[in-house]
Amino acid sequence: MTTLNGRRVLVTGAAGRIGSVTVGHLADLGAVVTALTIVEEPSLKADRVIIGDTRSEDDVAGALEGADLVVHLAALAHRDAGTPYDVYSGNVVSTFNVLAQAGALGIKRAVIASSINAYGVAMNPHQPLPAYFPLDATMPSDVGDWYSLSKQNDENTARMAWRHWGIDVVAFRFPHVNSADVLRRQADGHRDNPGGAVREGWGNLDTRDAAYAIELGLTAPLSGAHTFLVAANTTNAPYETDALLDAFAPDVPRLRRFAGREVPIDLTAARAVLGFQARHELDLPTLPLEI
Ligand SMILES: NC(=O)c1ccc[n+]([C@@H]2O[C@H](COP(=O)([O-])OP(=O)(O)OC[C@H]3O[C@@H](n4cnc5c(N)ncnc54)[C@H](O)[C@@H]3O)[C@@H](O)[C@H]2O)c1
Repeated sequence: MTTLNGRRVLVTGAAGRIGSVTVGHLADLGAVVTALTIVEEPSLKADRVIIGDTRSEDDVAGALEGADLVVHLAALAHRDAGTPYDVYSGNVVSTFNVLAQAGALGIKRAVIASSINAYGVAMNPHQPLPAYFPLDATMPSDVGDWYSLSKQNDENTARMAWRHWGIDVVAFRFPHVNSADVLRRQADGHRDNPGGAVREGWGNLDTRDAAYAIELGLTAPLSGAHTFLVAANTTNAPYETDALLDAFAPDVPRLRRFAGREVPIDLTAARAVLGFQARHELDLPTLPLEI
């Protein structure tokens, strides 16, 4: 495992929810961080802050000057964060621009943010159920919205960039990522509406663990373009997972049983290849499911 001490890392989307925590986390590890942000954020713990747009070739070229590694998080992070055109085109052009320039410069490794939505089902307006549980990175997709499509496209861009320029790319299919307080409030919502998040497997990740996963994505000994699902080990619903699946996905094949509130997301690859294990789990009671 390599160290990040003294390594120069560009973080895009640096002022965002995951970006700001990631900048602090990498700086604490001794990385020399350049933050690319489209909005002013004076509190960023970066060595260099560049105000710019990841769709712009010039802005990204300036931000990449001297970089050894890249963390690309900038995106319109939800289907409703802009018009369909802006969400799709902004996300895919940004990812292409960042990875193509980084690859052409000979940068060896990038981490990008994909999403659990890359398989489409979670935001699909027709509300299909997943093909099976646990959710994994190769499951059949059923895309019905432009945000999910942009994330699926970003994973293809990562594979192309590796194939063309040899830049290793780690793409994380993040579940809902937020602070512990927000995840706890979301758990209250799942208590009252337990079926609402079945298509995301009630997955969640503390923002600090997202930053930790990104650290491992930058340093793990691997090559190629790889997609990893990451999540806390437990759901943020206060019910047993098998009881939830019995109630809300009774006809969906289950490839194995789940222990207690174990998240029905396959974390094997992240554990085995990256050594990732979430450090923050929500301490929730396990209630009887009555529907
Ligand atoms: N937080 C989650 O639950 C979650 C889940 C899955 C995937 N993701 C992905 O993780 C990444 C980070 O998400 P987040 O939760 O921190 O979102 P966020 O909205 O808090 O941060 C994204 C940042 O990117 C910036 N941005 C958007 N377009 C830009 C552009 N053209 N140029 C420069 N900056 C631009 C935004 O201003 C924002 O500061 C995104 O790619 C998102 O799609 C997030």
